[in-house]
Amino acid sequence: MDHKPKQARENWGSRFGFIMAAAGSAVGLGNIWRFPYLAGENGGGAFLLIYLAFIVFIGFSIMLAEQTMGRMSQLSAVGAYKSVSPRFSFIGVLGVLTAFFIMGFYPVVGGWASAYIVKSATGLLASQEAIPGIFGAFVSGSWEPILWMLGYMAVNIIIVSGGVKDGIEKAAKVMMPLLFILLGIIAIRSITLPGAGEGLRFLFVPDWSKVDGSTVLAALGQAFFSLSLGMGCMITFGSYLGKDENLPQNASLVVGLDTTVALLAALAIFPALFAFGMEPAQGPGLVFVVVPQIFASMGGILGTLLSILFFVALTLAALTSSVSLLEVVVAYLIDQHNFDRKKATIATGIVMATVAVFASLSMGVLSDFHILGANVFDFLDILTDKIFMAIGGALLAIVVGWFVRKEDLQNEITNGGAIKFGLFNIWYFLMKFVIPVAIGIVAVLGIAAVEQTGLMIFGLGLIAVLAIFSRKL
Ligand code: PHE
Repeated sequence: MDHKPKQARENWGSRFGFIMAAAGSAVGLGNIWRFPYLAGENGGGAFLLIYLAFIVFIGFSIMLAEQTMGRMSQLSAVGAYKSVSPRFSFIGVLGVLTAFFIMGFYPVVGGWASAYIVKSATGLLASQEAIPGIFGAFVSGSWEPILWMLGYMAVNIIIVSGGVKDGIEKAAKVMMPLLFILLGIIAIRSITLPGAGEGLRFLFVPDWSKVDGSTVLAALGQAFFSLSLGMGCMITFGSYLGKDENLPQNASLVVGLDTTVALLAALAIFPALFAFGMEPAQGPGLVFVVVPQIFASMGGILGTLLSILFFVALTLAALTSSVSLLEVVVAYLIDQHNFDRKKATIATGIVMATVAVFASLSMGVLSDFHILGANVFDFLDILTDKIFMAIGGALLAIVVGWFVRKEDLQNEITNGGAIKFGLFNIWYFLMKFVIPVAIGIVAVLGIAAVEQTGLMIFGLGLIAVLAIFSRKL
């Protein structure tokens, strides 16, 4: 890569700041809302093991590769790919599209989380039996979830257009550790409930009979989603990293933190779920149904207080992720199309919010409206994590493995030999051969096993179109 940055790039104030921002992007609804319900739907233990294998062999490698690409080129995603070759810039654009589509449903769930702050305070926890019904009635309603989503989106727009970035970073620095502690408390409470052992067994004893191609694809997609990979986000973060930072260490830290939070969330939810005699495969409502019940079972003012804190922390964790998603699209419009930041943010935010209105309604009045076999919410969700991010990750591996000089990579990762990275050759081998082939196999098996084959093919077609018109982007 010989592309020179146009101007010196601003660096992170501190290593801690970078880790917090990258981990803030990674840790979000993906860990606490999505991971447990996917594990619940896909049989528990076996899903967890496959997920962990993907994190170790694919997630970490791609995290390192993205940060390396970013720091090497000193450019955000599209520019970084372009600096290798203009014909690859479509991979960056695919990432922008991915961010855009994720923001079509993520704010809906962000809205739920923020609504639950108020609901916790005003008597959601009054009766444990009523909690599942409250969730169902809330999300299938029309105006209430939409208004919360719009409020959530507005905060995103304010932050990204330049208003209170410092504020949110400061809040996140306090709230992320708090979220950690809260999840720990909930997990302990959950594990000590009578009948919790069943949940631990569900989570840690794999039942391989539940595994098919679609399980494996779901685990792969979740690994990418949760780590914010395969769409250029970490390339952009990496581009702000100082030349003396230790890339392998940064990548391990972010991956380790993200995985720990996901595991804690599962430990918080499954033992309690079984203790309450509920179904693990209840889909997207899981965390909103089980966690309030744990708090309700504590009773009194303590339960209410912890519940409020939990949903505040969840909302902030979601915000630090969705802000990074909105930023990917906005940065693209500014860098590649000379938009003004404020205008780009507001325009993008409005379009995203419009899509999210439909995603929200697909939980209720529009639940029968299907595009290629899925409602709007699922359409966006499946298209992004099961196709765009997985294929984006494979393409990244191919570009790094085959089109960037090995010496340049080694030089960048070891800071010109100043730090040791004993796994370099293994990492390089994974990028060059194993990851592209593994993702290819998982994608083929998954597409064959999944119900929405048409949707999958549509997604792949879209990527092909992008690739063909890449030079225009
Ligand atoms: N990783 C985030 C989460 O787990 C979602 C995300 C995906 C954020 C991709 C940025 C990029 O909630």
